[in-house]
Amino acid sequence: MRMYDIILKKRNGGKLTKEEINFFVKGVTDKTIELYHISALMMAIYFQGMDEEETLNLTLAMSDSGERMNLEKIEGIKVDKHSTGGVGDKTTLAVVPIVAACGVKVAKMSGRGLGHTGGTIDKLESIEGFQTSVEPEKFFQIVNTHGLCVAGQSMNLAPADKELYALRDVTATVENFSLIASSIMSKKLASGSDCILLDVKVGSGAFMKTYDDAEKLAQAMVKIGNGAGRKTVAVITDMDKPLGNAIGNSIEVIEAIETLKGNGPEDFTLLTKTLSSDLLKMAGIDNAEEKVEEVISNGKALRKLADMVKAQGGNENYVYDTSLFPKAEFTYKIRAEKDGFISHMNAESVGIACAKLGAGREKKGDSIDFTAGIKLLRKTGDKVSAGEVIAEMYSSDESKFTDAEKTFNSSITYSETKPEKINLILGKL
Ligand code: URA
Repeated sequence: MRMYDIILKKRNGGKLTKEEINFFVKGVTDKTIELYHISALMMAIYFQGMDEEETLNLTLAMSDSGERMNLEKIEGIKVDKHSTGGVGDKTTLAVVPIVAACGVKVAKMSGRGLGHTGGTIDKLESIEGFQTSVEPEKFFQIVNTHGLCVAGQSMNLAPADKELYALRDVTATVENFSLIASSIMSKKLASGSDCILLDVKVGSGAFMKTYDDAEKLAQAMVKIGNGAGRKTVAVITDMDKPLGNAIGNSIEVIEAIETLKGNGPEDFTLLTKTLSSDLLKMAGIDNAEEKVEEVISNGKALRKLADMVKAQGGNENYVYDTSLFPKAEFTYKIRAEKDGFISHMNAESVGIACAKLGAGREKKGDSIDFTAGIKLLRKTGDKVSAGEVIAEMYSSDESKFTDAEKTFNSSITYSETKPEKINLILGKL
């Protein structure tokens, strides 16, 4: 079999056989296929798509490309959540400790930033000492002792996805329905939890821009999950504007910590509570909503996050005193260009502006600036006056502000009338 023929077939709209997909995934895993061949096939799939059978075969081949985690060493029901990716989406950082504080174990594998979206692993690494690379035995021990662990894709789980994920990030081949479904579900199947909650994002800051596409992606993933014997539920949520007010790495962790203290922004708090109670219900817990409120107000959820940080080698004092997070060297204020309402804020452009400040990667393996980011002081629906400060940008490199400000300003549409509010929770399958 030759990669050239596989690329040509897909480029011309053909259907790849199971053998061709297995050949490709094996070559990606053992690194015998050139990066230019992989990138070319990703681009061909991006344009031509894959049908249901090809998507399933790609998912299974990727989930079999490494070890499969056997979570039997962890007692009780194990739950997992995964977002399809968004801007300001720090939900895992708040949901995982809440669920664990309610007594349900979360054994979670998370990713790095992808395209214009941030990644939980990058965010967690902004905490001094925090280790995202955790060996399986340690992972089991941490989940058994503390009820939660969030690790990177280091345990040889779905290594083919790890390679493809990093390449897609820098070759503009993320936003394809089959590539996203197979990427997420290969990891979820390999990581072995009993219940999987998928947060499928829709809107300008999501990879799926329309509700129909998000629903199609959600249906495909739920079918793959349930077909593999996992209880799988998908929630479709709005990502037309950034989630919460902080976008970046360390500033998102701080916002998640504030939310665990009960001081989070309204939208992010609502999503955190909804996903947390959905996970608890999937695990068979009664009065889920009340339990979520309780562990936030009695500080148990915050302590769970601190326990996890400590168990993963991090400085847990960061959780109790967020002034310990290093600050960006430079700050820049963005002012409203006009009087009126912010009628739309294109979340993808805000994510790109943030990456330009240093919070994302341009090339595979680039390091990132944990302190870089954007704090929104005004959001969609707010009335503003020309010259009023609507956002602050942070970076370790002052020269990055000009371009990032241009991109940020291009994300905003002003109107004379107040725009209609979009609900945050749009659907559930
Ligand atoms: N999250 C993933 O893990 N993979 C994708 O392709 C998109 C979001």
